Amino acid sequence: MKLTYFGHSAFLLENSPHSILIDPFLDGNPVSPKKSSEVNANFIIVTHGHGDHLGDSISISKRCHATIIAVNELADYVASQGATAHNMHIGGSHLFPFGKIKFTIAHHGSVAPDGTYTGNPSGALITTGGKTIYHTGDTGLFYDMKLIGEMNPVDVMLLPIGDNYTMGIDDAVKAVELTNPKFVIPMHYNTFPVISADPALFIKKIEAKGFKGAILKPGETFTF
Ligand code: NI
Ligand code: MN
Repeated sequence: MKLTYFGHSAFLLENSPHSILIDPFLDGNPVSPKKSSEVNANFIIVTHGHGDHLGDSISISKRCHATIIAVNELADYVASQGATAHNMHIGGSHLFPFGKIKFTIAHHGSVAPDGTYTGNPSGALITTGGKTIYHTGDTGLFYDMKLIGEMNPVDVMLLPIGDNYTMGIDDAVKAVELTNPKFVIPMHYNTFPVISADPALFIKKIEAKGFKGAILKPGETFTF
């Protein structure tokens, strides 16, 4: 299984023959090494409607006939724009050809770039190939991460550290302690000056608590 980072909160998860994009913000993303026309996917998970997460989902869905998986209001919005969508909601899970998706809460906002309300923001638990990946979306710290980790043992946790719009490093360290994942990859930092953060400091702090993690540079792939 391969997880490729495009910077910000954008990832491509590959478990052959399935390829799943998460929050594919590529064309407008100053640190992404790939443009939206250069990636392919069968499924696209979008955590919320903000432009830096919805990104190029709609155009990729149309070009690749990929299904966008999102909470109900956001799924309805992308469908209204011509994309293919599968509507879900927080707390619900569904089995797809590649595995299972379950949406979690996230403390944040959600509106599309054109001002359309897109429901509650979310995080996603993605179980494929016997592993569970938890992409938290944009969120502040919340104590229910303890419950999420207890009920859904997490192999790889992807969480924001950039502060300002989401949790910063110290809250993200606490999020790791609550969730208890096997491996951690930071995201949502250094895309723009306002979310500058030192990922090496974050890794040092989680290692001091007995956890493992790694920094992925945009374009790098983590194999597990
Ligand atoms: Ni956001
Ligand atoms: Mn964001």
